[in-house]
Amino acid sequence: MISKSTIDQVFETARVEEVIGDFVQLKKAGSNFKGLSPFSDERSPSFMVSPVKQIWKDFSSGKGGTVVSFLMEHEHFTYPEAIKYLAKKYNIEIEETEQSDEDKVQANEKESMYLVSEFASKYFQKVLFKTDKGQAIGLSYFKERGFTDETIKKFHLGYALDEWQAFTDEALKQGYNIDYLEKTGLTIVKDEKRFDRFKGRVMFPIHSMSGRVLGFGGRILITDKKAAKYLNSPESDIYHKSKILYGIYHAKQSIAKEDNCYLVEGYTDVIQFHQKGIKNVVSSSGTALTSDQIRLINRLTKNITVLFDGDAAGIRASLRGIDLILEQGMNVKVCTFPDGEDPDSFAKQNTLEELALYLEENAKDFIAYKASLLMEEAKNDPIKKAALIRDMVNSISKIPDRIQKEIYVQECAKIMDISEQVLFSTLAQIGKKEQQDANKAYKEEQKAFDVVQRTEPVKKVDIQYELERKIIEILLLYGNKTEDFEDLILKETEEGKLTLEPVTHNAKVFEKIYLDLQEDEMEFSNENFKTLYYTIIDTLNQNPEFALENFVNNVDEQMASEITTILMNDEKYQLSDWERKNIFPKSKSQGIAQLVNETILSLRCFLIDQKVNEFKLETQDATSQNKTILEDVLNYSNLKMLLSRKLNRVL
Ligand code: CTP
Ligand code: MN
Repeated sequence: MISKSTIDQVFETARVEEVIGDFVQLKKAGSNFKGLSPFSDERSPSFMVSPVKQIWKDFSSGKGGTVVSFLMEHEHFTYPEAIKYLAKKYNIEIEETEQSDEDKVQANEKESMYLVSEFASKYFQKVLFKTDKGQAIGLSYFKERGFTDETIKKFHLGYALDEWQAFTDEALKQGYNIDYLEKTGLTIVKDEKRFDRFKGRVMFPIHSMSGRVLGFGGRILITDKKAAKYLNSPESDIYHKSKILYGIYHAKQSIAKEDNCYLVEGYTDVIQFHQKGIKNVVSSSGTALTSDQIRLINRLTKNITVLFDGDAAGIRASLRGIDLILEQGMNVKVCTFPDGEDPDSFAKQNTLEELALYLEENAKDFIAYKASLLMEEAKNDPIKKAALIRDMVNSISKIPDRIQKEIYVQECAKIMDISEQVLFSTLAQIGKKEQQDANKAYKEEQKAFDVVQRTEPVKKVDIQYELERKIIEILLLYGNKTEDFEDLILKETEEGKLTLEPVTHNAKVFEKIYLDLQEDEMEFSNENFKTLYYTIIDTLNQNPEFALENFVNNVDEQMASEITTILMNDEKYQLSDWERKNIFPKSKSQGIAQLVNETILSLRCFLIDQKVNEFKLETQDATSQNKTILEDVLNYSNLKMLLSRKLNRVL
């Protein structure tokens, strides 16, 4: 176990904006940073990072929390892994306390799968370099392909022996559990028998963005028509083929730095490019590109250059996938290689300068490229040409930026020898439908942002929930502040009339809230808020000077997420142009004492209303008039009146 002092030090040192900045492109927005959500497909940023509060919030998926919970969500780290990752990043020495056998057993499933995969990767590397067969078969194959030792080591390439269960035996001997060997697909279990999935293949481990081994691709070395050239790890809890790009770990820094990403088809294309010195390259591993994969790149850069092998059929099939890139508002270029060449072979045959020059001279804007390519096919066939126009306009319609759209229309008109007018009207047709969809999305967005809106009727909200939440928010933001509270005390005058007289007293916000709520014997209805409430009150009771910013670091992850949601609520409005949308979030600049009074009184009023309604129902049901109930109602109504008067004074 990692010691508490190490954990504390990590939290003290780590800056949420720096850590997240390694994964998401963040832009300054007021006192916060914003960016595209790494957890959903979106075009306008709804992901916020607060350097002041040291928390993050993703308004599109609802996720949020601390720097540690980000790593847990995004990198699928366990808690200790996240701490270790941060310790490494910030050069903090990790102090370990003794780990019990029980702790070891409890290390969760995924973690075990990662460990097995890491072991396998090391094992295959060892076999490649340290065994006769590995050297004679695997290593010599890589050498033939032109890979240097340095490259092979950098990508952790390996070799799986051509035996039935060499790997599985070794893994079991080292104490790895057969369950995880099976779950990662490294071992195939059939009845009592166990087989290695990969045999007689050179191995390409597939790494996550943060460098963890998720799975493998294994290439066969003999030409066997029946066997697949590449065999890949099956989908598993840790390996989702559609969500990962081969090479992203080794490429991410360079992609951000160069502000461009080359997208190739194969493992070897990536490796060969790297060896030549072009490092901003990833591979979709031969499958159709997915939105998730594009999003991985989109976090690092807005520019993609798709590199095609030199066969026309492949290019045709890939064109549609590129619309997905346009959809995410990215700039796409395409580059083809001479017939029969792929990025791997081309890079191998040329110097870095030649390769770089080729890419520079041959990378064409995607839209223009597609238009020319299709035009060539359609040539004098009017029916084909009509379909082509629709196809082109469809691609253009995916581009979120309006100006860019128009420029493309003009360009395509030229290439396809057709009037801009026709293209624009086709675009408008598609646009109309998209606008309807967008309107729907816009309405939903507004619903999600729970704020006061002027023009539309106030929607029904759960008032009790909102007020309870507000109390938590006040506690978190101002709980340990000392304020002057003006309270109204009920006094009887000499004539026997009741009046409200203001009395000022000085108290901590959390004490004031606690005492007021206790007076009413008020309990939170929401379980999460209730737990949170007592945790906060307890903490402040023990140490009134407790810095509440640290609070989020001292509770479990679910609680941290709850807190983050509350604390980031007031940042929402920074995400878009609220004023234009006629939405006015309540300002927080009003006095704290007033805010506290208003909230507590509102909650009390609400609860009294509720009580009165309950009584009314009871009296309706009662067969005989129940005098005490009526009295209660009267009492409550009087109290309500009193409270309302107080509330009016406060407001
Ligand atoms: N691929 C696969 N399964 C196959 C064939 C291909 O998963 N049976 C994936 C691999 O990720 C491969 C990519 O598709 O890297 C591209 O395929 P291909 O162009 O055939 O392979 P290359 O990478 O060019 O491999 P090599 O140069 O070793 O032939
Ligand atoms: Mn190849």
